[in-house]
Amino acid sequence: MSSPIVFLNGRFILESEALIPVTDRGFLFADGVYEVIRFYKGKLFEPEKHVQRLARSLSELELPLDSVEKLVSVSESLISQNAFDRADGIVYAQITRGAAPRKHAFPVDAAPTFFVQTTEMLRPLQKLSDGVSLLLMEDIRWQRCDIKSISLLPNILASQKAAERNAYEAILHREGWVTEGSRSNIFAKIGGIWRTHPADHFILNGVTRMVVLEQMAKLGFSVQEYAFSVDDLLQASEVFVCSTTSEVMPVIEIAPLQKIWKPGSDTRKLQEFFHSAIG
Ligand code: PDD
Repeated sequence: MSSPIVFLNGRFILESEALIPVTDRGFLFADGVYEVIRFYKGKLFEPEKHVQRLARSLSELELPLDSVEKLVSVSESLISQNAFDRADGIVYAQITRGAAPRKHAFPVDAAPTFFVQTTEMLRPLQKLSDGVSLLLMEDIRWQRCDIKSISLLPNILASQKAAERNAYEAILHREGWVTEGSRSNIFAKIGGIWRTHPADHFILNGVTRMVVLEQMAKLGFSVQEYAFSVDDLLQASEVFVCSTTSEVMPVIEIAPLQKIWKPGSDTRKLQEFFHSAIG
């Protein structure tokens, strides 16, 4: 199979020919941010929300990049150049502070590295139907989880531990308060009210989370952006995690909690909305 086409620093080139210097601060320090955007049948899902979040992440890192606005057109071009016009997949975009001699403080004149790639990815239809099991663990991340940083070690370690236990995702808590997953947000229906952690510094404000909240309002569900505890989960009647790659994924178990759920009717209604929005 021939090498896919990617975008690197203003040029569309073969992935096999896309090279960055070993002194890139993304490589040396994880000094950068990223986005993952879904496309369905070649069409980007909620691209503007992703661009807005990317611009915010960049601004929090004091990493100015005017060309971030080009992400939508670059993504559309890559989808077409890689013949993904009828495919489901993801766009991965990463921006780092660029190459410079290794020194912690910002370099004066480094040019940011801007990389975009498209990959085919099928929807997880079987799991969306059956639901998934999660593994609960402590949230050991920093206090700026709102920035979509490429520095993901705690998320990777949590995700690996979950994979080793055959769990779909790790669900994280800080001193008993559930924050989010290692790569998703979480919602639980407790006492008839849907709850999810507020979009503060302890979670990433997921694009899917925002779309779900909009849709919950339209459907007339009671919802509070209010943290819930691990104990509260034992009272929950429905639970789901959501993300760009997971959509609205029903949760049927959270080890080691002694409780089993079934995909609930509210969760199914949200899934139906996604299904119709995807087309
Ligand atoms: N992860 N929280 C975390 C920690 C995440 O990494 C993600 C997304 C989300 C959900 O965000 P969104 O709905 O915008 O995808 C929440 C992506 C998919 C990833 O890292 O691959």
